[in-house]
Amino acid sequence: MRIEPVIKVSKINHYYGTGQLRKQILFDISTEIQAGEIVIVTGPSGSGKTTLLTLIGALRSVQEGSLTVLGQQLNRANNKLLENVRKNIGFIFQSHNLLTSLTASQNVQMSLALHGGISKREAERKAQAILEMVGLGERVNYYPNQMSGGQKQRVAIARALVTNPSVILADEPTAALDKKSGRDVVEMLQYLAKQQDCAILLVTHDNRILDVADRIISLEDGFLTSSKNTSSNNSHRLASLKWELINHVEDLSLKDFLSLLQQVTGEFQSFLILIDNEATRKCLEEIIEAITLKITHLLQAERSTIFIVDDTPGNLWSKIVQSNRKKLLKVGITAHFGIAAHVSATRECLNIPIASQDYRYSPAIDEQTGYQTRNILCLPILNSQSKVLAISQVLNKIGNNCFDRKDEQLLGEFSQQISAIFDIWCHLQKLHKSSITGKH
Ligand SMILES: Nc1ncnc2c1ncn2[C@@H]1O[C@H](COP(=O)(O)OP(=O)(O)O)[C@@H](O)[C@H]1O
Ligand SMILES: [Mg+2]
Repeated sequence: MRIEPVIKVSKINHYYGTGQLRKQILFDISTEIQAGEIVIVTGPSGSGKTTLLTLIGALRSVQEGSLTVLGQQLNRANNKLLENVRKNIGFIFQSHNLLTSLTASQNVQMSLALHGGISKREAERKAQAILEMVGLGERVNYYPNQMSGGQKQRVAIARALVTNPSVILADEPTAALDKKSGRDVVEMLQYLAKQQDCAILLVTHDNRILDVADRIISLEDGFLTSSKNTSSNNSHRLASLKWELINHVEDLSLKDFLSLLQQVTGEFQSFLILIDNEATRKCLEEIIEAITLKITHLLQAERSTIFIVDDTPGNLWSKIVQSNRKKLLKVGITAHFGIAAHVSATRECLNIPIASQDYRYSPAIDEQTGYQTRNILCLPILNSQSKVLAISQVLNKIGNNCFDRKDEQLLGEFSQQISAIFDIWCHLQKLHKSSITGKH
């Protein structure tokens, strides 16, 4: 049996303004949300998130397409019906919208009173109970200006949940909060909603909370660009892209390689970025390995290495990925190396034709590995803020030559094109560290 979705959005278009000023804001949006599901709508400012939310919340009338919320068609619905639908929705906004002249308890009771059919005593009791659930049992008689931002937002959650709505619509509920309170608020919302089997549609561009979602919808310029379950079966697309990338490093043209890499990066950015687990880590590592192989071939070098810069002060990099023309040589963890350390500090591109004559070159490494470095080309991989994310280094041009200007340019351009994947690595590292330090 198919369970009817709580929210069904089908081919919605929306416009603001009239005449020449009429501008389309939403384009052909379709999606469904089931009971108990937490869906996050993300996307840049101005992409139409709030507009979509207010349409679903029956706060704005549908112009084109069809919208069903809790079994009611909202198109051409009369005011009475819209009001009824709104009663079954809990709204939470960026600014808590509490009435400053009322206490926490009275704010929550207001919501019950608007619903009607409940005695004052009963309303008091319910307000007390829900405020206790959100951890404000001691603050029921506080006024909003006696509470912190996070506490006020928790009152707003209590107010939205106290009537047992079937749907919660939250617009940037963490925008005004610091990281910790933002997370607390969202986790609480998640917990309470799961208890009440309530569907949540949460608009946010706060990347730090995406992981509470069962599904993430991305809006860009009014278009729904992706809709992904965060459960494992949806890493399927990423897995197949990655497979193609890794297994065809050599046969893929540079253009196709970069295009695949861009798609992989996009997949990470749209949802996986926040999931810090073994699988994500391994997947990223494999992609970085494939990149080193591509560099080796591209530059006609014997070997190439990528040093990934670690954020921890004093640690230059956390990981080294190295390959020769045939295979991966090593994925190591280390503290520093001569040439790469120099490049990391200066951000210069170093092209050293005769390694043994350069003061920055350390023969100790060759002595250890038994390899003979003749020449080195080494440059930094920077992000858009010019932060050094990694160092790319190639050794020994094949055929007894040196690396020339063209090689420098090629590696430079390639490094620019691949930098986004290192941004993701960096982000994952941070998440990993905060999850370690967050545990006591
Ligand atoms: N009431 C309105 N009248 C005209 N244009 C609007 C109105 N509300 C929003 N817009 C425009 O619609 C676009 C989408 O806005 P909005 O839905 O608020 O996006 P988001 O919530 O993603 O930031 C923006 O370009 C915004 O300027
Ligand atoms: Mg908005």
